[in-house]
Order: sequence, then C-alpha cells, then structure tokens
Amino acid sequence: MLLENAKFITTATPSADACPVFAKHVTAKKPVASAALQITACGLYEAHINGQRVGDWYFTPGWTAYKHRIQVQTYDVTTMLQEENEIRILLGKGWYASSISRGSYEPVVGPNSIIAALTILYQDGTQETTVTDESWKYTESGIRYSDIYHGETFDATVMPLEWHSAVVADCRHDVLVPQEGEPIRQTEVIPAVNIFITPKGERVIDFGQEVTGYVCFRTVGKRGERILLDHAEVLDKDGNFYNENYRKAKSQVTYIANGQEDGFYHPVFSFQGFRYVRLTEYPTDELYVGDFYAIVVHSDMQRTGFFSCSDMLVNRLYQNVIWGQRGNFLDIPTDCPQRDERLGWTGDAQVFCRTAAYNYNVNSFFRKWLHDLALEQGPHGDVPWIVPAFDPPSGAFAWGDAATVCPWEIYRAYGDKRLLADQFDSMKKWCDCVYNKGKSPAEWGGGHQFGDWLGLDAEEGSYRGATNDLLLATAFLAYSCNLVIKAGRVLGEDVTAYEARLKEVKEAFMREFVTANGLLTCDTQTAYVVALQFDMVQDKAACAAHLAELVKGNGNKLKTGFIGTAYMMDALSDNGYADVAYSLLLQKEFPSWLYSVRKGATTIWEHWDGLKPDGSMWSKDMNSFNHYAYGAVASWLYGTVAGIRPDEEQPGYRHIHIKPVPDPRLAWARAELDTAYGRIKSGWERCAEGYKISVSIPDGTTADITVGEQVYTVSGGEYHYTLRI
Ligand code: BGC
Repeated sequence: MLLENAKFITTATPSADACPVFAKHVTAKKPVASAALQITACGLYEAHINGQRVGDWYFTPGWTAYKHRIQVQTYDVTTMLQEENEIRILLGKGWYASSISRGSYEPVVGPNSIIAALTILYQDGTQETTVTDESWKYTESGIRYSDIYHGETFDATVMPLEWHSAVVADCRHDVLVPQEGEPIRQTEVIPAVNIFITPKGERVIDFGQEVTGYVCFRTVGKRGERILLDHAEVLDKDGNFYNENYRKAKSQVTYIANGQEDGFYHPVFSFQGFRYVRLTEYPTDELYVGDFYAIVVHSDMQRTGFFSCSDMLVNRLYQNVIWGQRGNFLDIPTDCPQRDERLGWTGDAQVFCRTAAYNYNVNSFFRKWLHDLALEQGPHGDVPWIVPAFDPPSGAFAWGDAATVCPWEIYRAYGDKRLLADQFDSMKKWCDCVYNKGKSPAEWGGGHQFGDWLGLDAEEGSYRGATNDLLLATAFLAYSCNLVIKAGRVLGEDVTAYEARLKEVKEAFMREFVTANGLLTCDTQTAYVVALQFDMVQDKAACAAHLAELVKGNGNKLKTGFIGTAYMMDALSDNGYADVAYSLLLQKEFPSWLYSVRKGATTIWEHWDGLKPDGSMWSKDMNSFNHYAYGAVASWLYGTVAGIRPDEEQPGYRHIHIKPVPDPRLAWARAELDTAYGRIKSGWERCAEGYKISVSIPDGTTADITVGEQVYTVSGGEYHYTLRI
C-alpha cells in the first residue's frame, strides 16, 4: 500500500482561510545513495526541502474523483538532501476543499490534510523513512487566503512564529493511487505586451493572448502596501475592463509587501483564465511592462499536430483551438477556465476529444479522466454531467456519451487496447442505462437533456437549439451501441445483444424521424448532421443534399450548437459537399468561426456571438471566451483539408488514410502529425494543372493515399502527386 506507515496530518483547529505549512527536520545520518519523497493531500500541496521547491509539477495531486482515488506523487530528491534538512509542505484547499467543491468535500476522504514519506537509502545499503505524524509541526503561511475560483492573498509581512504540533487526521488510506495523469507544469512565460489607461481611468495590462495560469509580478511596495490584481478575458465595447462574465469567481490576487523583498511572486493554489489584468491597487505610478508576466499552466501533454494554410484568419482560428486546449486541459478537460465552473463537463470533452488527440498526445490525460468517469457512474450506468462529480449521476445524451465516444476516439488515435478493455464495462453500462429506460425514443430521450446546447435556432431566451431532443437521444443511443459493438469486436467480446439493439434503435429512428421521401421530420441543420454522421438514414444522398441546402439557404452560415457543430464539417464533406464545408470555414460574418477571429479572439468562444457585431456582449450569465467545444472544427482541418485520418482497423496510424480535399479558395494547406511510428505529413498547393500533393509516411506503417479517383497503397516514404482539375 502507498504511504502505508504515514499518517494524514492537519491543523489542530480546522484551517480557516490561511494556508498552513507543515515542517519536519530530518538528519541524513550517513552518506546518501538516493532519496525519494512521496506526497499527496486532501487539497493541494507544494513541498520544499531546504528552501528549494520539490519538483516542477504544479497543482498536485491533481483532480480525481477524490472519494474513489487521490494520486500520490513520488519525487527523486537525492540531490536536494544535505546532512541537516528542513522539509516544508504547504497545504492549500484546491479543488478538494475550496468553493469549487460546493462544500461537499468533508465526508469524502477526511479534512484538508497532507500525507508524506521521505525514504533515504544510505550508501551502506540501509534505509530510513520519515513519515508524516504528530511529530511534525505547523504554522500559518503568508498565504492568507486561497481559492480556485476567488484567487489568492499573500502577505509578505507574516512571520511564522508560533509552531504547533500537527494533528493526525481521520482520512481514508484506501483512496491512495500512484500518479496516473500527465503532470501539470508551467509551460510558457508570456511577457506583458502593453499597459494602458482605459477610458474609465483604470490601469490595465494586456498579455496579448488569453491564457490559463497566473500573473507573475514584481513585488514592489513599502511595508503594508498592496498590489491587487483583477483578471478579465475581454474589454467592453468602450475599451473598459470587463469581467462580469466570471460570475461569482472573484479571480482576485492580492500581495501585501513587506518593503524588503525585491523579487517576483505568483499565486500558488489558484489559477485564472485571462488576457487582461487590472491593477486595481498598485503602490506606485511607475509602471514597467517587464514587471508582469503571464505564466501558462496546464497538463504537460506532448504536442503532436501542426496545421497551417494560406489563409491567415484560418491559421489564427487553428491557434485559438490550440490555446483552447492548453487553457482547458488542466488535469481534467474543463468547459472553461475563468468563471465559477471550470468543471469536467462531459459533453464538451466528448465533442472535442478527436481534435484534442490530433493536437496533443492525450492518451494518459484521457485514460485518467475516463477511469474517474467509470468510477463516478451510477449503479445503473448513468454518467454524471461533470467528472469529477459533485452531484449524483443523471445521464444526458451527448454528455453521457463521453463514456463511449472518448475511449473509442483514444483507441483510434493511439491503438492501445488496454484503455478499451478498462472502459468496456463503463461503455456498456452507459448504453444499457439509456436503452433500459424503455422501448421508444420518448423513453430513451427522457430525463433532463441539454439538447443542441447553444444552437442558434434556439427560441428567444433559451440555450437549447431547435433540434428535437428525442431524435438526438435516439441517434446518440445508436451511436453508443455502435461504439460498444466496435470495441467489443476489438476485445473479442460477445456483442450480439448490442447488435440487436442497434437494429432496434435504428428502426425506431426510421419510424419516428424519417419521412416517406427519406428526409427527416425535424428540419434543422443539427438533425441532418447527426443523422448522417451516425448512419441513421438510408437515403444519405438526399439527406446530404438537403443539409447542404439548409446551410446555403442560411447564407452559408451555421445554426448549430455544441452537438451539430462538432460533426457539421464531416457530415458535409464525407457526403460530397466539401465546397459547402469550406464556405462555412471561410465565412467571416456572424455566425462563424472566423467572425470571432476578426473580433480579435485568441481562444474559442462559448457563443458564436459572445461579442456581438455592434460590440455589445452576450448576457454575462453564460459568456465564456475560452470554451473549446466549437474548436472541434480542427479535426476537420487535419482529417479532411490535409486529409490525415487513422484507420480504425489498424488504429494508432499503423495504417493511415490520406485523402486531402483541396479547395480553390486556399492556395495551400498542410498538416503534420507525430505518431508512435514517426511523423506523417500531408499537404497540397494550387498549381496550373490543379493541385500538387505531397505526402510523407513513416517507416513501419502503410497508407492508402487517395488522389481524385486514384488510390495508391504505399509504405514508408515521400510521395508526390498532381491532382488535375
Ligand atoms: C457549461 C457547458 C456545459 C453546459 C451543459 C455550461 O454551464 O459551461 O459547457 O456543457 O453547461 O449544458
């Protein structure tokens, strides 16, 4: 068992606002061969040995379904040890115990506490372990207040004088598991680009890019003077600081100077999503851009995908998708990083998963989150709306389908059967849970649903698009049955029951939602997108033609929300209407992807009209400027524009489908993708005869390259073709 002999320790009285720091003196009695420190917390921790920070991981131990598991980190601290050593461990409330947990943490594992063990292996072969217990001391640190949503206050005048004996906390040990996810690191430092005075006379710093992390600033000021920073994503239409859309999340960082330190400081246990920072209080009128940096913090996944083309706005859109992922993959896939949510919304993760797996290697990231999803499922297989969950599970279509879609997408991208095997029960349980609700779409679609969330065809004042919920619920049930069947076949499982269900669900769909002329009873873009993508209709050609008409009839503009948008481009281009998909991609007027780019977006917006054409904003109750869901369009840039797709039969890019789909409105486009086998490249450029296509396939793989009507089957190497038009 991990940390077997160590005890969870806490403070004598439940810690109020100030973060405690626990300390222990350890003497290395003999020459040291190696030393390892294992730690975790009900909360967040940061450890120091002899004044030096231990490791480069942040927001440890991360966010898991705490009532089931808390990750333990192990650090090699050999080079940090001297003969006499002071270990200090700071404890913050973090996701476990600050306002984000809605106060529901107490009974889960135990109070806000730490547990640790330092094991020293001496050169003579003997070993000594120091564990957390009542012999440790604690005091209050300079962090006077810390909360994920509300920010942090650090008082540099606080001198730790009074030390008390730590108290053993009644916490469960059975939740401790080794680190599973990607470590969270500080991945980039962005210097401030400008400090300016707004029309209201406020001093505001612009970092030029919306990021998730915190500001690192110079600790100027005389003793007792305050630096108070407020964060925002956008300016209002008059150019004033605006953060009402953060709702209850105060996102405020305060530093109280002691007049002696001249260094830099950043919050420790709180993060913000921001581009602008207001110097709400600042001790001096002398402002230097070099005194402010934005530190970018997220799960440190390996970047694998790269896309560019001849259209600069599309390139910026693509960069916004990358920033959306960086800003929202902070140990779990979150909806947004700034307002009082920052939660693992399952629907958002599901629609973005394919894109995520092109951009970065998200194999371990999703493996960890999906393990939590499975643990959080209800007894009947319901999937909570958010994972980790606070409320009892209550499945909704497209959100709960994260249980089937994400494992399958990860399998397609990385070809690792273990994840499918781990998740297979969870996949089946979700499918069973929906199917067992009854025998008809009305029952399968029962309960609370989010619908085509934020669809533009919503009724005035509603968040839910016009597409019939029962149609969507039935299509998603069929899709999930299909994914269970595919996963079961890979794993050699008997899936006959799911094959029968798939047939039954499709027949019900045909009966209820398909008209005599092969079209749908619900005439929305999203209905057709989903019916085509999930293979729910017989007359695909007629449905695709109708979808293309719906889009063109709407001035080549979208009406879709979270659901329809994710699959729109594939539904068009995989059915013969790539030109219409390109028209949507290149649309610059509202609503479109490039509209937000032209409005200066540096991340993906939650709403097509987060910032309206007249400069006003969507209501502050739901207006995030960093919500990656609509960024799902990037999978189409990789998979259709550049044409790189995995083959589900030989996943992980062991066999590759290359089928670039050029369009005369772009002069060139190219994508590169790092896989376990090496780098795939695919690109094209316009030329006199049509398009020159260049492809590079890594050794050890095979590919079929489609150029017009021709298909070439190749192995590793460089290939050049001309697509004549
Ligand atoms: C979140 C979404 C989420 C939705 C559920 C919102 O508050 O920000 O992204 O999927 O609720 O409908």
